[in-house]
Amino acid sequence: RFKSDLVIGSKKYITDEWTNVPTAITKLVGRNLYKQPSHPLAILAKRIEKRLEPLGFTSYKGFDPVVSVHQNFDSLGFPDDHPGRSKSDTYYINKDTLLRTHTSAHEIECFQTSPTPGYLITADVYRRDTIDRTHYPVFHQIEGARTWSSKDPQLIKRLQDDLAAIPRPNNIEVEDNLPPFSETNPKQDNQSDEVTRLIGENLKRTLEFIVADLFKTPSSTVDKMGKDKAKGISGGSPSEPAEKTKIRWVEAYFPWTSPSWEIEVFWKNEWLEVCGCGVVRQQVYDNSGMPDSVGWAFGIGLERSAMLLFKIPDIRLFWSSNPKFTDQFKEGEISEFQDWSKFPSSYKDIAFWNDSNLHENDVMEVVRTFGKDLVENVQLVDTYHNPKSKKTSVCYRITYQSMDKTLTNEEISTIQNQIIDTLTAKGAVIR
Ligand code: PHE
Repeated sequence: RFKSDLVIGSKKYITDEWTNVPTAITKLVGRNLYKQPSHPLAILAKRIEKRLEPLGFTSYKGFDPVVSVHQNFDSLGFPDDHPGRSKSDTYYINKDTLLRTHTSAHEIECFQTSPTPGYLITADVYRRDTIDRTHYPVFHQIEGARTWSSKDPQLIKRLQDDLAAIPRPNNIEVEDNLPPFSETNPKQDNQSDEVTRLIGENLKRTLEFIVADLFKTPSSTVDKMGKDKAKGISGGSPSEPAEKTKIRWVEAYFPWTSPSWEIEVFWKNEWLEVCGCGVVRQQVYDNSGMPDSVGWAFGIGLERSAMLLFKIPDIRLFWSSNPKFTDQFKEGEISEFQDWSKFPSSYKDIAFWNDSNLHENDVMEVVRTFGKDLVENVQLVDTYHNPKSKKTSVCYRITYQSMDKTLTNEEISTIQNQIIDTLTAKGAVIR
């Protein structure tokens, strides 16, 4: 299936038994959606950059998505048996090289090169996953980090001043019952309680400052006193918006931060995980050759927020070059997507004995290779285990739907047959 060399962009890579990047994916490298000023993903990234740059952040873009296993996992302290390292979850170019699974792969080079105490990096990231409306094997993250010198005799004072410099938005309501650190979410051994607390506060207030700018309820831009009073909401001063966006903090875990948290936003009646973050672990600064540092890092996935804020119903749309999509958006503006008439969808089931134990993500990859963006959803609809033969049969329902036209039965059958042939070649026994 793979030629001896894999070409990505203008570079050639040696392949081996780890190689699992199909051409459907390599073709997406270099699309650089986040660099097209009027693309929703770029609009969000830019909003965040504009908000943080005045606080001492440099914005990076355009790092090569091909990174080493060391950059993506080892340098950040991922344990050897971390599931993220597996071939079923990650696109490997060869055993030492992969398509980055997160922007954190660049933490060390950014720490080393950033001319300011803070930096932001926006980039495309790659993960093998299921196929549905909210999952695509390539998505985008914006990562930020902020560093201080731990040798600074004025460190506490500096942390206090920097914290005071972060504006406090008045359109959010924050729920945070967590201690600055705990037994289950411990601080770094070489940091004092107060330093950890101040770094954590700085991180939280910075993220709240970002989220408050993106997730504005319609009425939170209207701040007329009369309207607030009429609604019976307290605090109806001219500067207090009527409806605040609810935000909450929960504890989290990442191998390279501790303590770690997640920020969630209550949006359209659901808690949305916006971003993982935490106090950077000493080992990362050691690996960066800057042991006398303390600070924080966060990583925001852009697609989920963009889908909600722009009301984009299907993640495939971000990749559409149809002007009906691309011409809708304007640099700097979060506007509501106007859906054009949806073309009909139809599904076909495929049932097989999974004799060769194909991983679900391998099945997805085959579907994606032939179905490309014509597949809206792949769903496991049935699993049957025969205790006598000890064999397992699975049935996947593939839903076909094009963003641009009505698919003919013939087009769908051609794709379906290619999928069947390829799964058969991989050891599946079609029922
Ligand atoms: N890289 C993490 C993710 O992809 C997010 C993160 C970034 C968490 C930085 C902590 C610090 O989920």
